[in-house]
Amino acid sequence: MPDPMMHTYPKHNLGQSGLPIGPIAYGCWRFAGTDVAAAQRKIETAIACGMTLIDTADIYGIDNPAGFGSAEALLGDVFKAQPALRYDMVLASKGGIEPGVPYNSTKPYLMRACEASLKRLRTDTIDLYQVHRPDMLAPFEEVADALSTLRSQGKIREAGVSNYSPSQFRALQANLDFPLASHQPEFSAMELGPLLDGTFDQCQETGALALAWSPLAGGLLIHGKTDEEEKANRLYAVAAILDAIAAQNSVTRAAAALAFAMMHPARVVPIVGTQTPARIKEAASAARVRISRADWYRVVEASLGARLP
Ligand SMILES: NC(=O)c1ccc[n+]([C@@H]2O[C@H](COP(=O)([O-])OP(=O)(O)OC[C@H]3O[C@@H](n4cnc5c(N)ncnc54)[C@H](OP(=O)(O)O)[C@@H]3O)[C@@H](O)[C@H]2O)c1
Repeated sequence: MPDPMMHTYPKHNLGQSGLPIGPIAYGCWRFAGTDVAAAQRKIETAIACGMTLIDTADIYGIDNPAGFGSAEALLGDVFKAQPALRYDMVLASKGGIEPGVPYNSTKPYLMRACEASLKRLRTDTIDLYQVHRPDMLAPFEEVADALSTLRSQGKIREAGVSNYSPSQFRALQANLDFPLASHQPEFSAMELGPLLDGTFDQCQETGALALAWSPLAGGLLIHGKTDEEEKANRLYAVAAILDAIAAQNSVTRAAAALAFAMMHPARVVPIVGTQTPARIKEAASAARVRISRADWYRVVEASLGARLP
């Protein structure tokens, strides 16, 4: 008989504004094309499944013909077609990646980037504005000044960071007079970085929301295709344990993989990235998956390719 860790997934509350967020989020990195009705279906499906935080960024779409800003613009077109949707979600976006540079978190750049995002998204305020990647050349004092100014102007409600180390988070926080509302690292059963580098500890310490990007390792955990032999061995071992968890819970491997991320006490919110409405619904079943403590650690050991001491 497994030792079920009984988890319930209450809503999270974001930062000082306390905006309620479901236990799973939906992301628009792979949002492409001009089919507004199809984009609207994805967003409506995600919200109906309780994925009330919708994550995008100004850079999303850069690899498509429509280019920089196009994923935000498509979401803006969805709001134009169905204005009520904007009020059904916590809208999260990011700025600070400047094509060709690659990072810019100076105050003038972040102010311009946020204002351009607002225009594309056809909204007056972004609920969670995240610095997309750390800019090694921008003093934390200046980044904090940009975020504070945007917040005091009402252009953003809360500020967060993505791909920041715990020490970068701490240094930025030291220059702010409001708490950073979120950390957004890559995290999945194949990418355990934030478990080990202090990021999730910091989320528990400060109350920042832990958002996990690419929680299925960008699909790797499902299609299992990699040319790297060592990675492939770890992947097969992880997939086998996830499949056993999935079978015990009558869900798919994708749902088991998301549940693995959600079970961490930092109350990790995975950002689901599929473009298929049926798979968005499948992902939602992760909230009812129960994973024993022993199985959770088996996934960790398989992913590390080593036994824990
Ligand atoms: N902050 C950052 O630097 C950063 C970087 C990357 C991503 N993100 C955020 O994280 C979000 C999710 O990233 P992601 O798209 O890489 O997430 P993911 O959920 O790890 O991967 C999604 C990919 O897996 C594929 N997939 C295959 N089988 C699937 C199944 N059964 N269920 C679900 N997906 C399946 C999807 O294809 P189909 O579409 O065909 O289903 C899609 O290509 C992004 O939208 C973005 O908001 C942030």
